Amino acid sequence: MEALKKIAGVTAAQYVKDGMTVGLGTGSTAYYFVEEVGRRVKEEGLQIVGVTTSSRTTKQAQELGIPLKSVDEIDVIDLTVDGADEVDKDFNGIKGGGAALLMEKIVATPTKDYIWVVDESKMVENLGAFKVPVEVVQYGSERLCRVFEKAGYCPSFRMKDGQKLVTDMQNYIIDLDMKCLKNPVAFAEILDATVGVVEHGLFNGMVNKVIVAGKEGVQVLEAPAKN
Ligand code: 5RP
Repeated sequence: MEALKKIAGVTAAQYVKDGMTVGLGTGSTAYYFVEEVGRRVKEEGLQIVGVTTSSRTTKQAQELGIPLKSVDEIDVIDLTVDGADEVDKDFNGIKGGGAALLMEKIVATPTKDYIWVVDESKMVENLGAFKVPVEVVQYGSERLCRVFEKAGYCPSFRMKDGQKLVTDMQNYIIDLDMKCLKNPVAFAEILDATVGVVEHGLFNGMVNKVIVAGKEGVQVLEAPAKN
């Protein structure tokens, strides 16, 4: 599996060109993309500016000597490469397994070419076997969790070292065990309209390309052009 993640990440780095502003994703697959971009900066003199999606990726990029800007300093990102937890055939996906979904969506939104790098196990018929991460403000989060419980979403707080995990943006994550999401677009709208929810891990129709590494080789799936 690690080898497939590396193939996907390194393949995506071929899309990075001189002069680009590049969103640097988070997770064990995006890690290999960032490593390869760092290698190209160092060995090939690649000239880019990175925008990171988590404190982890910031640290990695700084160690690799990739020049960085804050998302507040730019208006448009040429290319972002990130991982995903599940992807369906309509190019909807779940992200946030690494608890970075809010920063990831903020970086993905002004991106012209948004690419996911996955191994083939992430491609699914229906989303939802992977729990949908929902980033919520701390204030009122216990109450919100009960609301999710009553709605039948089987919520649980993401934990770390016996405590509720606190994201880079100082929020909590509630994971929803939806099992099978027949209509992820409609469910995203429900979450978007829920007070206390900062952002959720449903990234529907945002991605332009999915680079899928499998035992038979690498496939680049192109999403239909957006209007
Ligand atoms: C982090 C993410 C990751 O990109 C996603 O969880 C995939 O990670 P990995 O490549 O390690 O499986 O969304 O918040």
